[in-house]
Amino acid sequence: MSAAKESAKIILDNLRAYIQMYREWGFEGVSVKWPVQDDVGARRAVPLPTTVQPTVHSNADDLTALRDEIGDCMRCKLSSGRTHLVFGTGDSEADLMFIGEAPGEDEDRQGKPFVGKAGQLLTRIIEAMGLKREEVYIANIIKCRPPGNRNPEPDEIATCSPFIQRQIEILRPKVICALGTFAAQTLLGTGQKISQLRGRFHNLPILFSDGSPAGIKVMPTFHPAYLLRNPDDKKRVWGDMQLIMRELRSDR
Ligand code: URA
Ligand code: URA
Repeated sequence: MSAAKESAKIILDNLRAYIQMYREWGFEGVSVKWPVQDDVGARRAVPLPTTVQPTVHSNADDLTALRDEIGDCMRCKLSSGRTHLVFGTGDSEADLMFIGEAPGEDEDRQGKPFVGKAGQLLTRIIEAMGLKREEVYIANIIKCRPPGNRNPEPDEIATCSPFIQRQIEILRPKVICALGTFAAQTLLGTGQKISQLRGRFHNLPILFSDGSPAGIKVMPTFHPAYLLRNPDDKKRVWGDMQLIMRELRSDR
């Protein structure tokens, strides 16, 4: 968790504890400056709810709500061939997010991203960075396996990519590592080759929920499935991971 998220969480936890304490002392309301404009913008008493509920929801809640919204998705033709929809796994407060292309056979069977041969290599890369798989968030652009692992088609990309956009907006990671040509080109909206894109950060513009613009650093790198066939390029990926580690250690 970033320092800013950590301190926001502490403030909210304290606030919740205070409200609970006042309730236990028998207070029935607190006087607050209500954020919504009322007639004179004056203070007015706001009754406490019967159970004190946190009004700010966590990333985990927002991801669960998004997963529920996607539901038993039939929005595109990939739904007919899938076993499991693969939403994403990991720490909902992660500073680092890995994004791949689409589930393969193992992922379709287990409902989790990057659990096959390529996934095992990704796990080793993450561990070599001094992190655990559970400490990062892993997802794909496309949530259902294309038959025979064919490339995703334009209508499938158009239908599914809003969901990875929303996952990115919820997580607001410090860095996204785009794995392979498809993820890098789709996220960055470019046709450039992965060999030309990798090795440096690119800016991904996003809008926060309040409408304010921001940017997330994206590091494209070779896909682990490609590395299994081209092990000589592992050193280049390792160079990319070192740039990510340096960025994660720097202050926002
Ligand atoms: N390849 C991907 O791009 N994603 C997975 O989840 C597995 C393999
Ligand atoms: N082609 C891909 O799709 N990914 C790579 O990383 C390299 C080639």
